[in-house]
Amino acid sequence: MTSPPTDTPPSALRLRPAWSALQAHHEQLAPQHLRELFAQDPARAERFSLEAAGIFLDYSKNRITDETLRLLIQLANESGLRERINAMFGGERINVTEDRAVLHVALRAPRDQQIFVDGEDVVPQVHAVLDQMRDFAERVRSGAWTGHTGQRIDNVVNIGIGGSDLGPSMAYEALRHYADRKLTFRFVSNVDGTDFAEATRDLDPARTLFVIASKTFTTLETMANAHTARAWLLAGLGEDTGDTRAVGRHFVALSTNAEAVSAFGIDTANMFGFWDWVGGRYSMTSAIGLSTMLAIGPDEFRSMLDGFHEMDEHFRTAPFERNLPVLKALLSIWYNNFFGAQTMAVLPYEQYLHRLPAYLQQLTMESNGKQVGVDGRRVDVDTSPIYWGEPGTNGQHSFYQLIHQGTRLVPVDFIAFANSLNPLVTPLGDHQDLLIANVFAQAEALAFGQTAAQAEAEGSPAWLALHREFDGNRPTNVMMLERMTPAALGRLVALYEHDVFTQGVIWGIDSFDQWGVELGKVLAKRIVPELVAASDEALGHDTSTNALIRRYRALRSS
Ligand code: F6P
Repeated sequence: MTSPPTDTPPSALRLRPAWSALQAHHEQLAPQHLRELFAQDPARAERFSLEAAGIFLDYSKNRITDETLRLLIQLANESGLRERINAMFGGERINVTEDRAVLHVALRAPRDQQIFVDGEDVVPQVHAVLDQMRDFAERVRSGAWTGHTGQRIDNVVNIGIGGSDLGPSMAYEALRHYADRKLTFRFVSNVDGTDFAEATRDLDPARTLFVIASKTFTTLETMANAHTARAWLLAGLGEDTGDTRAVGRHFVALSTNAEAVSAFGIDTANMFGFWDWVGGRYSMTSAIGLSTMLAIGPDEFRSMLDGFHEMDEHFRTAPFERNLPVLKALLSIWYNNFFGAQTMAVLPYEQYLHRLPAYLQQLTMESNGKQVGVDGRRVDVDTSPIYWGEPGTNGQHSFYQLIHQGTRLVPVDFIAFANSLNPLVTPLGDHQDLLIANVFAQAEALAFGQTAAQAEAEGSPAWLALHREFDGNRPTNVMMLERMTPAALGRLVALYEHDVFTQGVIWGIDSFDQWGVELGKVLAKRIVPELVAASDEALGHDTSTNALIRRYRALRSS
């Protein structure tokens, strides 16, 4: 689908000397097994591991040698990665198709840092909003902020979708251990009415705060849910409730669009703003993080921002050879573009991170699922792999079979923490030891496998030995952190943000637009009135869509 006609000259990427050198190197290295690479080099584990910004990365179980890394780093240099990093941190309009700067890194900058967009230092604005959020969060958490009837707020419902949901809901789950358990948090994203109904069915409107999170404040799903929330609140508070005053106590908005917030009926005094240089999927450290701050408190929220900032600084300053996001990105490129791996599994061995794969799906695929480069040409290499995952050990009893013995190569990121926030001991062992033993075992099995001869030696009959063979040579990264904290979450998410950025730079695409979501939105808008129109009204779609609309009308009215 992405290949240009054969008479099209190769892209700048394919013309890079490092690209052809990597192709030749791949041919040489691909037949080699990790068993051999480890046997040849006793210091391999030590050399191919790195600790920075609180994250230890063992990347020795990748199908690489020193030469691979040298060439991948050459590719990064030839792609102008250093200049692109400086351009991002320097506030240049690197989101070219939307003509915007990309400065989520400014959201976590300390108060005394300066970051300029169009000659204006944006850090004071960032901190002004953070102060406003702190003040509000403290009032809600202390009970000083009350609902319309004077009762304190016990329930917070975040209404948003995409980046206005996935970041906040992932972070709430990830940091639940640090949350004020007196407050109940719910996240409503889907326009499917079930989402709202189930999220609110046991809540008392008088004690519920709605946080309407939408960068644009025009997103159909969010606006529909916000209207439903307002109707639910007013009905719950009683017929004679003054609309504006009640809404003022029970609704706040997180947005860049003050006009639309006001038009909806939320006082802009209850609005927490951000800027067009914050992309939706990069917004969890902006005002979009208000629900996170309400849950864990302003100080822990600041720790999370500091964790992000630590990784931002590491990414900005570390040489590529010792740069975690750069190395991770280059390894992804290696498998995606040279081994033809189509997917990438992210497997956190930490239950609190169970929404991380969903969060990363938007971050990675909405950013790099593109086929036109910033030069306006169709790309001629594959761009983003498909990211997916589930927490371990659950996945082991589900899809790991394919990762071990399937026909496809699936590079894996394992994420593990040395200490549990819920230490429990059983006669079978400490839960954390049981958990982490599985991470190490999986990475070992994937790398080294088990030959049919070994299976036979262990008692398998010859006819079964092949079924019990694990060919191994399946690449993994193992990331290890001390424990799940707000700062650790920040470091981890920033690591993936910059990994995505680096991959986008190599492919020469704009990682910060998302035009691919538009067509479906336009068509849905057109179809909505058609669903409720008289059943014999003419339809102008293709025959399949026309037939589906008619079928829906018929089923709805029956
Ligand atoms: O439709 C895609 C998208 O624009 C995402 O990029 C974004 O995170 C999401 O919708 C929600 O957008 P908003 O915050 O403007 O409601």
